[in-house]
Amino acid sequence: MSNRYAVILAAGQGTRMKSKLYKVLHPVCGKPMVQHVVDQVSVLGFDEIVTIVGFGADVVQEQLGEQVEYAVQEQQLGTGHAVMQAEAVLGEKKGTTVVLCGDTPLLTAKTIQDLLTHHEQESAKATVLTAHAEDPSGYGRIVRNQEGLVERIVEHKDATVEEKEIKEINTGTYCFDNEFLFNTLKKVGNDNAQGEYYLPDVIEILKKAGETIAAYQTSSFEETLGVNDRVALSQAEAIMKRRINEKWMRNGVTLIDPEQTYISVEASIGQDTVIYPGTSLIGKTEIGSDCIIGPQTEIKQSKIGNGTVIRQSVVYDSEVGSQVSIGPFAHIRPNSEIGDDVRIGNFVEVKKSTLGKGSKASHLSYIGDADIGENVNFSCGAVTVNYDGKNKFLTKIEDGAFIGCNANLIAPVTIGKHALVAAGSTITDNVPGEALSIARARQTNKEGYVK
Ligand code: UD1
Ligand code: MG
Repeated sequence: MSNRYAVILAAGQGTRMKSKLYKVLHPVCGKPMVQHVVDQVSVLGFDEIVTIVGFGADVVQEQLGEQVEYAVQEQQLGTGHAVMQAEAVLGEKKGTTVVLCGDTPLLTAKTIQDLLTHHEQESAKATVLTAHAEDPSGYGRIVRNQEGLVERIVEHKDATVEEKEIKEINTGTYCFDNEFLFNTLKKVGNDNAQGEYYLPDVIEILKKAGETIAAYQTSSFEETLGVNDRVALSQAEAIMKRRINEKWMRNGVTLIDPEQTYISVEASIGQDTVIYPGTSLIGKTEIGSDCIIGPQTEIKQSKIGNGTVIRQSVVYDSEVGSQVSIGPFAHIRPNSEIGDDVRIGNFVEVKKSTLGKGSKASHLSYIGDADIGENVNFSCGAVTVNYDGKNKFLTKIEDGAFIGCNANLIAPVTIGKHALVAAGSTITDNVPGEALSIARARQTNKEGYVK
């Protein structure tokens, strides 16, 4: 097998997206489009992967890091011009070069491999990946001669009325003999509707020079969808979502309504977990097995154990144990650690706090900057008073303590093991273990006062 290289085009601004964000960085199921492409390409073990950057070069490089090498295209003069920028890195090399666009996020490693195999079998100098599109508008069309061989590719904007009828499209993915690619690119002109140096023109030039040109048609147009605007972005999102959801359903996860379930590419879910509609699992979120998640639940960048139930709630950047119950209507904010068997009920907010095994905050509480031990009962309406307007302070509650309803724990404060804080108390001083602390005015009844 000869050396293999890949060039990923990601220098365009993506004018049609009408966005501040550079096109290839728009996420599809939580991952930037160009990252999808790089990840699929990386599976195949290329000798070198060069990404062409231009618009937003620094942000694209920050995203892709050291996964690839870079070449800069200062001015966006077209896809042919973009590939030329890789000449300094690849120009002298012998082997096969795959060129891909950073805006085709659905393309899989398998299809790229199939294209490579076809290219090598045909001993072609160039092989284009094509697809049959019911609505080919916007794409370059594959023009074949009477023998059915590829002659050239014509861009939508340059196509004649008859050529626009062609439904076989250029997916923007190709294999080239590396030396032929760079030699031929020098001959590409920009006399066309867009005044750009088109990469697809390499095909026609090689064909006219009598070289072997091949085409490999994938049966999945969906996979080759090129995202140029937000309509296509939503289509890509829908297709990727379906792919991800089907994968989890085949792995033993129940999705009550897959259409209404949003699982990021990086998320994972254990067997026999049931996900109700309106649930979003964002970023690297790990859900254990036998959980019930949703409806209307958002979990971001968090780890959830087994057998946990989370309903109508939000969990961000936190860890939740097994057999936990959260919600409905709870808010777990970043850096929280919820132990096994914990119950967090309705209208409870937890921020940067730890709750040990078996502890409960079942109703209407705020727990912030708190370290709560095991089997603590945090009753209805109790709050940690963690903020004085300038600084945050910590509350520590040791194992087995009972915090009565509507208690205010003014931090910094420690409640000792098995201590009991009476309902309605405002606690400003530490409470020793096993003590009862009452900090509220005594009740006086004024008999007959109302009359
Ligand atoms: C391109 C193809 C078209 C094909 C379609 C498939 C050309 C001329 N046309 O059209 O035949 O059907 O893809 O999706 O190649 N880019 C650069 N530098 C540039 C211009 C573009 O890096 O100067 C990058 C873009 O960031 C993008 C990719 O190349 O990732 C494709 O460019 P785009 O403008 O989307 O081309 P299409 O019009 O989609
Ligand atoms: Mg495109």
